[in-house]
Amino acid sequence: MKVCVIGLGYVGLPVASIIASHGFEVVGYDKNKKIIEALKLGHTIISEKGLDMVVRASVETGRLKAIEKLELADIYIIAVPTPKLNDNSPDLSYVSEAAAEIAEVINGGELVILESTVPVGTTEKILNIIKNNRPDLFKKNNNKVINIVHCPERILPGNTLHELVYNDRIIGGLDEEATKLANDFYKTFVKGNIYLTDAKVAELSKLTENAYRDVNIAFANELSILCEELHINIKDVIKFANKHPRVNILNPGSGVGGHCIPVDPWFIINNNEHLTKLLQTSREVNLNKTIWVSKKIQETASKIEEKIKNRKVKIALLGLSYKPNIDDLRESPSVDIAKILSQKRKYEIFVVEPNIHSLPKELENKQKLYEFNDALDKSDIAVILVSHKQFNSPSKWQEFEGIVLDFSE
Ligand SMILES: NC(=O)c1ccc[n+]([C@@H]2O[C@H](COP(=O)([O-])OP(=O)(O)OC[C@H]3O[C@@H](n4cnc5c(N)ncnc54)[C@H](O)[C@@H]3O)[C@@H](O)[C@H]2O)c1
Repeated sequence: MKVCVIGLGYVGLPVASIIASHGFEVVGYDKNKKIIEALKLGHTIISEKGLDMVVRASVETGRLKAIEKLELADIYIIAVPTPKLNDNSPDLSYVSEAAAEIAEVINGGELVILESTVPVGTTEKILNIIKNNRPDLFKKNNNKVINIVHCPERILPGNTLHELVYNDRIIGGLDEEATKLANDFYKTFVKGNIYLTDAKVAELSKLTENAYRDVNIAFANELSILCEELHINIKDVIKFANKHPRVNILNPGSGVGGHCIPVDPWFIINNNEHLTKLLQTSREVNLNKTIWVSKKIQETASKIEEKIKNRKVKIALLGLSYKPNIDDLRESPSVDIAKILSQKRKYEIFVVEPNIHSLPKELENKQKLYEFNDALDKSDIAVILVSHKQFNSPSKWQEFEGIVLDFSE
């Protein structure tokens, strides 16, 4: 069995290396030349616990190879990005491109697995793209020539390699034969339960998982603003409410980040505006929390400004990634807060993000990266946006004489 993984990012590369480590011949294809060059040498350009080792081992045994042009395989796994456009509609151009590329090389009979998170109906779109691009294969009585399933990925960055094997999976095919073939494949390396359904149920159940989390976090974020006004400790409120056996409120934060939770609800809302009021309100509440946090920082800065006349207020912004101990800045509320404060031009800002080496484009001309200790030494206000392990330094915090604002949970 030869497996071709298309898109070697946070999902695709771990998937490719896990499959290779289970004895399959795997080829990995990505449009990003840097990823391909690194993989040829057995290297990775993303940071994920244990990934370096598995990739190196798979490349050294010859089971995982980087390819520069798509080629014939028995199974194709699509793990390309599915971002949203500025108007919040889904950008399916990467999926469409991958489907068109697959169409060019297949002979018929292959299994195509879509792991990317997609709006309802996208798995069927892949079939239509392949049909349109290869009428020759479908000519004979419009016979079925390809097996297509959606098997949404549910990994948690930071624990990807473990979860790829131990998470439960949902497989929804365009027909039963495709679902069965995919089930036989996943059974070879998944130790969690595998549930079989159709493509639309699989698509919407994945989106529902993340939309559920967005709504739950919106509830926590709304409560956190209420508690601030009422001078009540939000952490205690949620801790005690969660002692109820059927209540599980998530933690508030400075918004919601990552390229899943703040994006996926839009894939349900899009084209269904009148049926998704709760999802839209939750998005609004979570986006507003980021604005609220930046206002709180500015209010605190104004109080300091009154006391110091001849210099700018100095603010350490601690953590840019969207959650602790990772390097992923996608849709991160901390980046938005850094941007909002930078635009004011009235503060001196010390951005600290120990998991990256350079700032994202939108901040690189405005700010510099600082070490945690250095930033604290320089600042009047320390804003904890993400609770990275590097910030857990009781002695350093004891020395700090400024104001601490903690929005990390
Ligand atoms: N990262 C996560 O934690 C996570 C978890 C669950 C689901 N997902 C979903 O998985 C999908 C992939 O996410 P990711 O985080 O791995 O994205 P990513 O951006 O890290 O990686 C995607 C890769 O695909 C490549 N690519 C784009 N178009 C291509 C094409 N036509 N041919 C070959 N390569 C192409 C890009 O160069 C990139 O390297 C998304 O739909 C995402 O929503 C991600």
